[in-house]
Amino acid sequence: MKPPVRSLLGTDQLSVPEIEAILKLARRMDPKRPPQLLRGKRVVLLFYEASTRTRTSFEFAAKALGATTTLITSTQSSIEKGESLIDTGWTVTSLGADAIVMRHPCSGAPYLLSRFIPVPIVNAGDGLHQHPSQALLDALTITNHKKRLKGLRVVIVGDIFHSRVARSNAILLSKCGAEVIFCGPPDLAPDVAESIASGVQVCHDLDFALLGADVVMSLRIQKERLAGKQISLDDYIARFQVTPQRMKLARPDAIVMHPGPIVRGLELANEVADGPQSCVHEQVANGVKTRMAILATVLKAAQ
Ligand code: NCD
Repeated sequence: MKPPVRSLLGTDQLSVPEIEAILKLARRMDPKRPPQLLRGKRVVLLFYEASTRTRTSFEFAAKALGATTTLITSTQSSIEKGESLIDTGWTVTSLGADAIVMRHPCSGAPYLLSRFIPVPIVNAGDGLHQHPSQALLDALTITNHKKRLKGLRVVIVGDIFHSRVARSNAILLSKCGAEVIFCGPPDLAPDVAESIASGVQVCHDLDFALLGADVVMSLRIQKERLAGKQISLDDYIARFQVTPQRMKLARPDAIVMHPGPIVRGLELANEVADGPQSCVHEQVANGVKTRMAILATVLKAAQ
């Protein structure tokens, strides 16, 4: 038996039973009547990059379980004065942090910190690399609707190249037996899917990819990271926007997901984003329960 997970850095480190255990715990979490599993614990939210959903849901999750939280961002802290990542990690550990939830623009930053700091680190998104809590909350959302992951056809469409959400989801979903198809123009969906998780396919034709899809996961076009890419947004909209017409190609009971933030009118037509198949708000709500389960697990507080 593997030692219990201490830090949560990526979905690649999780076994199927560990994924199932976190999802089971998340289903039991009631944010309105939360068990006080983290009473007296201190959770530091160390955010070097912008966030709305992830940061707020980790904060609500920690507080709901009885922990105290503090937010450190790269402005208005000693990071602005040039303090190194590892020195900042040691500072918050010496101040009494029991866990650090961390987002960083550089891939690998939480992995580096976890090698130096003796408290659990939860990766809340590192560069283009991993976003494990998002993949877990997405798995919770999918299983709430489909009761399983095995055998589902999941189309992930958008800016795959820059997406830590795509990578974490592809690894988790294929490990759990889902069929994962990456879709987008070649610049945003390069033919390297197999190296992310075995069995993941790439398709540059959304109409074809959507045939028989159970789940359509749309991703944001990360305009801040598009430098050097030959992308015409008008062409993207024409070929890859998820529209009501295109959704007719998927299964009638298919669900539509997006990790947010949505760029309105680009990745998703408004009728789809706000339509009956959209699970976008449910994903956000599931973020709190899932992050409660994650914090309880890394802090070994779950019964
Ligand atoms: C994503 C992220 O930051 O990786 N958002 C999120 O956490 N819900 C996706 C994105 O920024 O497009």
